[in-house]
Amino acid sequence: MSKVIVMDHPLIKHKVTILRDKNTGSKQFRELTGEIAMLMAYEVTRNLPVDEIEVETPLMKTKGYCIAGKKLGLVPILRAGLGMVDGMLSILPAAKVGHIGLYRDPETLKPVEYYCKLPEDVAQRDIFVLDPMLATGGSSSAAINFLKQHGCTSIRLVCMIGAPEGVAVVQKEHPDVDIYLASLDEKLNSHAYITPGLGDAGDRLFGTK
Ligand code: PRP
Ligand code: URA
Repeated sequence: MSKVIVMDHPLIKHKVTILRDKNTGSKQFRELTGEIAMLMAYEVTRNLPVDEIEVETPLMKTKGYCIAGKKLGLVPILRAGLGMVDGMLSILPAAKVGHIGLYRDPETLKPVEYYCKLPEDVAQRDIFVLDPMLATGGSSSAAINFLKQHGCTSIRLVCMIGAPEGVAVVQKEHPDVDIYLASLDEKLNSHAYITPGLGDAGDRLFGTK
């Protein structure tokens, strides 16, 4: 069974609270999404391996460390996942970025794929799938399936708000994928929106409603 890591850092809690507020406009919503993603990058990379190297300070040679292991890949689920990319890249500037376009059909609630562009060597990378919202889990699970079909074997899912229902779906379908959340909310409502949630993340990021 995969792990679910809920980040209860005070800065993350504070920023998520402002994000939830219905009076927060798109400019601030985008800024906060980027800042939360940057803070989450710190935790999701905690277990990356390091190599010991030598570094010469102005005074002497000493032991230092550099990130080792596989190269990294960020894969936002369009649209809303785009809001998390720049924050993550500010901490992980060498990561390559792939895009998977999915939208949730309002009738069936099933994910519909409309775009995919991945780095050529995606299968060799440690992949972080980015999406602010994990609701029914359909979109995240479909994106992870897609990445596995492209040969990816090391995948982590990074979402700001998750519902228990979506967490259960991803854990069942992808027991090898750890899930990182800024908040684990109560439940889905009858329209499969996360409650208390923050509404429609894509619309709030891009001002489309
Ligand atoms: C939202 C969200 C997730 C998905 C979550 O995207 O960004 O991708 O819904 O729901 P699920 O877990 O039930 O699949 P949406 O389909 O609204 O598209 P958008 O990002 O283009 O707004
Ligand atoms: N997508 C969103 O943007 N918000 C939800 O609460 C559920 C799906």
